[in-house]
Amino acid sequence: MLKPSVVKELKTIVGPDNLFTSPEELVVYSYDATKRESLPWAVARPAATEEVSKILILANREHFPVIPRGAGTGMSGGSVPVQGGVVLSFERMNHILEINEDDLIAVVEPGVVTGDLQREVESRGLFYPPDPASHQFCTMGGNVAECAGGLRAVKYGVTKDYVLGLEVVLPTGEVIRTGARTAKSVAGYDLTKLMVGSEGTLGTATKIIVKLLPLPESVRTLSAFFSTIENAAVAASSITAARILPRALELVDQAALRAVESYLKQDISNGAAAMLIVEVDGPIESTERDIGRVEELMTRAGAMRVTRAETDVEREQIWKARRAISPALYTIKPKKVNEDIVVPRSKIPDILRAISEIAKRHDLLIVNFGHAGDGNIHTNIMIDEAEAERAEIAVKEIFEATLRLGGSISGEHGIGLSKARYLPMELGFDALGVMKKIKTTLDPNNILNPGKIFLNDE
Ligand code: MLT
Ligand code: ZN
Repeated sequence: MLKPSVVKELKTIVGPDNLFTSPEELVVYSYDATKRESLPWAVARPAATEEVSKILILANREHFPVIPRGAGTGMSGGSVPVQGGVVLSFERMNHILEINEDDLIAVVEPGVVTGDLQREVESRGLFYPPDPASHQFCTMGGNVAECAGGLRAVKYGVTKDYVLGLEVVLPTGEVIRTGARTAKSVAGYDLTKLMVGSEGTLGTATKIIVKLLPLPESVRTLSAFFSTIENAAVAASSITAARILPRALELVDQAALRAVESYLKQDISNGAAAMLIVEVDGPIESTERDIGRVEELMTRAGAMRVTRAETDVEREQIWKARRAISPALYTIKPKKVNEDIVVPRSKIPDILRAISEIAKRHDLLIVNFGHAGDGNIHTNIMIDEAEAERAEIAVKEIFEATLRLGGSISGEHGIGLSKARYLPMELGFDALGVMKKIKTTLDPNNILNPGKIFLNDE
């Protein structure tokens, strides 16, 4: 708990209206998309870097944990205050500070909603490609902390590929600047890359400089439906084999389709067992040609039906359904163990086979969907309480199969609380030791996000 004198000091830093301590207010900041829950002791809503810095200096003096938080859309428990402490909510630091059309950069505060930045730059003919499925709610600070991926990573990469520089408040409260406003810079260690994806354990970003691209001239999207998931996976590989690089290549299995159909009360697939969504972008002549070739490939691979989106509204409908899968899954079972494995894309049929075998052996419902184009499959074990123990064994087996195939246990959701104990399986203890040293150097008092146990408990 916080001493009354500390509460008073926090109120002085952020203003009395921006420090919450009542249970009704705290509960709103107690969970994320994993549905893990733990009440913080207080929530501070700073409006400026200086306030963030002062809170961290106070935290070091008074020894309370600090947990940075964006919109709480994280999928690995990163913003859940499992050890109590003060949640640092960035909802007031939500300004797009600059869009520089000549330098092709934007500078934003961490609380900017990713979709708002996308829309703002698109209105000027520019493009911010990282596109997490939760783009309407998630924030840039969270995207940086977790190195968010999303639907367009197959062609455009992930958050780290767009962050040119950061202003970061270190756990000590010191403010540092990393990177530059330029497209290139090799001066010194690449601290920007170290920070992006460090899950709020090494510092918290208070300004983010991202690079922008010209908005592609046109976009074409299609959905293809298959009678088996294997056929869909093979069809997905045929696109890469034909040397077409779509900007999105998404796979949705039967259980995910049924869940989203009942959630949206809409028949999307006409009973199909799997769906692929393919989107290409570029000059009109190239997208027209590519979407035609993809359609042919889908038909050749045995698609039961291929539907091109002919209008923006039709395109949006496809993406609305895809983005709704995650919430829709909760209509199947009360809990989902949401894994985020990634394998070399050619191994998708192998990992799907392995998962199906694991599901059968443990008598569990495992739903698969995700970014087939980059090998990143969201494997969701749908459970009730009685199945929790079996699910845990299944997770370990899925991770083992993933690593055997040359993959990684998290493609984009992060390690967080969910996968902390599995990290040694992938990294080994030597690499964990190095990470622990970096964390300890920057945060000797273990103030910043100590709940992120992968650095503390191993
Ligand atoms: C997605 O691609 O929909 C997200 O990463 C969320 C999820 O895995 O549930
Ligand atoms: Zn995803």
